[in-house]
Amino acid sequence: AQKDGYRFFMEKEIYEQSAVVSDCMLGRIKDNEILFDEIEKSIIDGITEIKICACGTSYHAGLTSSYLFERLSKIKCSIEIASEFRYKEPLLTKDTLFIVISQSGETADTLEALKMAKAAGLKTLVVCNVDNSSMTRTADATILTRAGIEKGVASTKAFSTQTVVLWMLALYFAKAKNLISDETMQKELHTLREVPKSLCISDKIHEKTKRLSKRYLHGHGFFFIGRDVFFPLALEGALKLKEISYLHAEGYPAGEMKHGPIALADPELFTIALMPQNLLYDKIKSNVEELSARDSTICAISPLDFDLADDFVKINSCDHYMLEFFEMLIVLQLFSMEISIRLGNDVDMPRNLAKSVTVE
Ligand code: G6P
Repeated sequence: AQKDGYRFFMEKEIYEQSAVVSDCMLGRIKDNEILFDEIEKSIIDGITEIKICACGTSYHAGLTSSYLFERLSKIKCSIEIASEFRYKEPLLTKDTLFIVISQSGETADTLEALKMAKAAGLKTLVVCNVDNSSMTRTADATILTRAGIEKGVASTKAFSTQTVVLWMLALYFAKAKNLISDETMQKELHTLREVPKSLCISDKIHEKTKRLSKRYLHGHGFFFIGRDVFFPLALEGALKLKEISYLHAEGYPAGEMKHGPIALADPELFTIALMPQNLLYDKIKSNVEELSARDSTICAISPLDFDLADDFVKINSCDHYMLEFFEMLIVLQLFSMEISIRLGNDVDMPRNLAKSVTVE
């Protein structure tokens, strides 16, 4: 793999997302449904529950999808960090579809969780970027994310393709169970086709994150906040910043700030607020207003102007929250990368981290 003129592999991979997401959808989106050649519709027969297990960024894709499985497929869905799942003596029932998500297919904790589910007789499915990996060899079924090789330790394009695969899977199950109206399906399919456009990066957005990085690199504490699927996105934004800039960052559900973290609010607390127009806008707005009233420094990411923000990144207006999700993802990834570059860190090989964690 070459950097092709980009400064880092991570930068190249951020820019590749639009194209790899198109590859990921190729042949899978039909006129009125989703098709996965690699799985049978019967995979959902007798299933009343989905359990997802993963680590790191893959966990965040899984958490995002847990909202979509319940909302679109109407299937109960829970998700756990693989290293926790392994030792909690989990109750596993055969009406559960067990899904693991892994870029590498080799992460030790996720692989062991998969083996436990298999041993308990559950149907298992892996969403993975590497064919013929330990997990694809173990699971009953595999859906490949087709992101291409990811070199940067901080995962970017693996996350966007995982999220798209899981969203398509939610629609696939919804259709198999006959629980989605044609109108909703059409809207979702139309939106999926728009994702590559939302992942295209304008010079303006990249320049904006570069400029912001000048000031935000001085932050000692960051809160990334969001609601619904923007909560896992907030977790992912915070993880990216931690991984490559070594600054302390937390992702938090916006509505939960008042139950503790708001005590930290002062001008030194940097809040990155994910404010989508199409999902719970008024709710997140009032959470951000509470932080602003306590003088926290706020960087809002939104298509809608927000006067109380100290800094504002305007994303394109879209008519579906998932498009706003991907627009914001780009901003968060670039923001972390630009801070890391300014701090002189090794963006692609951050200290203490490994691309593939094959030990417990
Ligand atoms: C490591 C990597 C992360 C990754 C996690 C899970 O910690 O540094 O970027 O998200 O493992 O990896 P997986 O290959 O299972 O997705």
